[in-house]
Amino acid sequence: MTTLKINSAEFLAHYWQKKPLVIRQGFPNFTDFTDEHELAGLAMEEEIDSRIISFADNSWEVSCGPFDEFATVCQGQWTLLVQGLENYLPEAQAMMDEFDFIPGWRKDDVMMSYSVAGAGVGPHLDQYDVFIVQGKGSRRWQVGLPDDFEEITPHPKLRQISQFTPIIDEILYPGDIVYIPPGHPHNGVAQEECLNYSIGFRAANQIELLNSFCDHLLDNNWQGKRYTDPQLAVRALSCELRTNETEAFRNLLKQTIDSPEFENWLGTHLTDAPKFITEPPDEDYTPEQVHQLLANQVSFIKSPGVRHLHYQVNDSDKRLSTFINGDYYAWPVDDQKQVFLLLNSTVWLPDKKINFNFSSQFIHNLSTMLNKGLWIIQSD
Ligand code: SIN
Ligand code: CO
Repeated sequence: MTTLKINSAEFLAHYWQKKPLVIRQGFPNFTDFTDEHELAGLAMEEEIDSRIISFADNSWEVSCGPFDEFATVCQGQWTLLVQGLENYLPEAQAMMDEFDFIPGWRKDDVMMSYSVAGAGVGPHLDQYDVFIVQGKGSRRWQVGLPDDFEEITPHPKLRQISQFTPIIDEILYPGDIVYIPPGHPHNGVAQEECLNYSIGFRAANQIELLNSFCDHLLDNNWQGKRYTDPQLAVRALSCELRTNETEAFRNLLKQTIDSPEFENWLGTHLTDAPKFITEPPDEDYTPEQVHQLLANQVSFIKSPGVRHLHYQVNDSDKRLSTFINGDYYAWPVDDQKQVFLLLNSTVWLPDKKINFNFSSQFIHNLSTMLNKGLWIIQSD
């Protein structure tokens, strides 16, 4: 795969969440890092989300994986879609990383599809931003503007819209990319058999966030405050709920959002990686062994599918707060430069000049990360 060619500042200013765009040769000289055969193999795995959407004999069908055979479901014009590829294929993670001008915690997954000639999933809307990279073959993309579309469900698992007026109507070839903001109708029809890679983004709604925040408070045995009313005075009607009392309830809830638990939950929530495949080492590394590995300058490789973020550091902070796959790790701010290099490189080679100066906290954290299979040691 090649490097993404995009003017990121211009893209964010004029297109991101605003309007669709075709980026011709976003990946110049693009070659696919996988094919439909490997994709079919992944679609046979229990833990991998996959679907086949077909249109045959004037009727839409949706079959969900895992598949043990394809002949009966791959009828007529069909598309095989496989999700979460960044967890299984390092190249899919690398493709996602090419879009690092958008925060990692906004990214959802890499989905790949294989379509036979004439196939597509029909005109529809998505609630999320997506970049769709054209792999082998070619596909005609039509994208329109948001409107009050009536949704139709030609199959219980398929939501489509009837028609829309395209503002983009172009055929994409290998390495071309179409960016589609949320709520923009689109329709992709394979001109010949083709592969597509969708880099999708996350945008939780308030209900999902509140739900997840409450689960976090419960999981962590958070001792919430109770409603109190020491100033209670006599009122004429006992069932009256006064405005200041309504406000007291609202404030009680706001206080949970304003508590430090909010940051803990948010970091956990945004880096949660339920589909990450853990491959812990046969035996745990001790901090002494990790110290030795750092001194020996081995390479540390980030496993595909690792999600991480760090909170913005202020001058007064004594520690750097990071979350990696849902867990909190604090680091001395003095280690910040190395932590950023470690977290943001696919392969990290400790800096020779400073390899004996890593803090015990750094070594402790790195040991935990190795023992969870988040990073692995390069074996020669
Ligand atoms: C596909 O890759 O076939 C579907 C992508 C989309 O329209 O969301
Ligand atoms: Co779509």
